[in-house]
Amino acid sequence: MENRVQALIGAQWGDEGKGRVVDALAREVDVVVRYQGGANAGHTVIVGGRKHVFHLLPSGMLYPNRTCVIGNGVVLDPEQLISEIKGLDPAPSVTGVRLVVSNGAHIVMPYHKKLDVLSEAARKSRGAAGAIGTTGRGIGPCYVDKYNRIGIRAEDIVAPKLLEKKLRASVEEKNLILERIYGEPPINFDELFEKALSWGSFIEPYLGDSTFEIASAIKDGKKILFEGAQGTLLDVDHGTYPYVTSSSCVAGGVCTGGAVGPCRVDRVIGVAKAYCTRVGEGPFPTEDLKETGEFLRKNGAEFGVTTGRPRRCGWLDIVALNYAVMVNGLDVIALTKLDVLSGLGELKVCSSYETDGAVTDRFPNSAQALESARPIYETLPSWDEDISECRKFEDLPAAARSYVKFIEEACGVKIGLIGVGPDREDTIFRDF
Ligand code: GDP
Ligand code: IMO
Ligand code: MG
Repeated sequence: MENRVQALIGAQWGDEGKGRVVDALAREVDVVVRYQGGANAGHTVIVGGRKHVFHLLPSGMLYPNRTCVIGNGVVLDPEQLISEIKGLDPAPSVTGVRLVVSNGAHIVMPYHKKLDVLSEAARKSRGAAGAIGTTGRGIGPCYVDKYNRIGIRAEDIVAPKLLEKKLRASVEEKNLILERIYGEPPINFDELFEKALSWGSFIEPYLGDSTFEIASAIKDGKKILFEGAQGTLLDVDHGTYPYVTSSSCVAGGVCTGGAVGPCRVDRVIGVAKAYCTRVGEGPFPTEDLKETGEFLRKNGAEFGVTTGRPRRCGWLDIVALNYAVMVNGLDVIALTKLDVLSGLGELKVCSSYETDGAVTDRFPNSAQALESARPIYETLPSWDEDISECRKFEDLPAAARSYVKFIEEACGVKIGLIGVGPDREDTIFRDF
């Protein structure tokens, strides 16, 4: 069967290399859709040594004549979007890329970002256990307003009368919170209103009905790729709650945030690193706080592209990966950063947990239970060769091939793409 409609999902805690895999697939795709999350995402694409980072724009923006869609499930920071569009090089006018921004995407207002930072600081002051380590991009507070039905949508910032009414009510409420709970100065309505109108006039040419855009692309037999942000273990329902983001990062999120029926999705691709990383707080059973973690951080350049924070690093966790296979119904895995393991010496893979004296290969859907899980490792042969020039599976050293095969067998899912370096060219395709 032809894979016309595909969903690409982070299979770990985010930063798996989704951007580079989207870029690899965008060669053969007509439409790329972001459908959840916001500018908390940072997706890196490197082409010919040149680095492009996408926070809100889909990672397919570099290919000519594509349609890129920001779906209704995304929370949209207009300042970020405008600066990303302006900073695009080559510009959309050169590449002929068409950008469609959903009318229904909710707007991240400056007060959302302020409240994000303030509530995170308040949680921190109550003790480290309370802090989530958010990106400060206003994601949680914006989704709260959405679900509380008081949010401001992209369509509102081009409708001055409606905007005035909605924004005034919102600012009044937020000022009560800012002044009375946090002792902060209030927001000036007039200034924000003017700003929102100027964002509106910039964004207006891109606004559209993403639902119909996607439906007609499907009807016309176009190839569509839904680009997930964050990862399965950061999903608000299925992740390590409360140490999660505020959106549905799993494959199910494609249906609501991207407006597509589940039976229309032909293939679900999971992106996983050859090891694990996490940014922010929360349980991470295989985290290594010693030399291995340091090696991975240094060799893998594991620093967040959105916040610059060092990422926590550790061995590959098959228990968690199998959970992602299950929750998303993964059809295929793209394994990135295999090159980073070169020269690490003995390789370990966590294939089960020990919890309260019992051994299990089942990922607990509870942060508390996960806190007490101790990883049980299997040791695999390692390799020292630089594999970044390998372009075929057969080019890899035997130990690297057996590492890949071990994961395939443990997960029951084929690894169809392997990243051996950060550049577009540093990719091994295996019947992908
Ligand atoms: P995303 O959020 O899932 O798109 O991932 P990020 O862009 O936040 O982080 C992935 C990082 O790893 C980026 O710096 C990429 O350039 C880099 N990267 C991706 N794939 C590979 C790979 O196969 N090898 C190496 N060495 N780096 C990679
Ligand atoms: P991409 O798409 C890694 C993490 C934050 C924090 C938690 C909640 O690049 O993979 P939020 O600001 O969303 O309320 O923060 O989620 N987080 C990410 N971690 N990659 C991301 O995106 C992330 N987006 C959010 O560090 O722990
Ligand atoms: Mg990232």
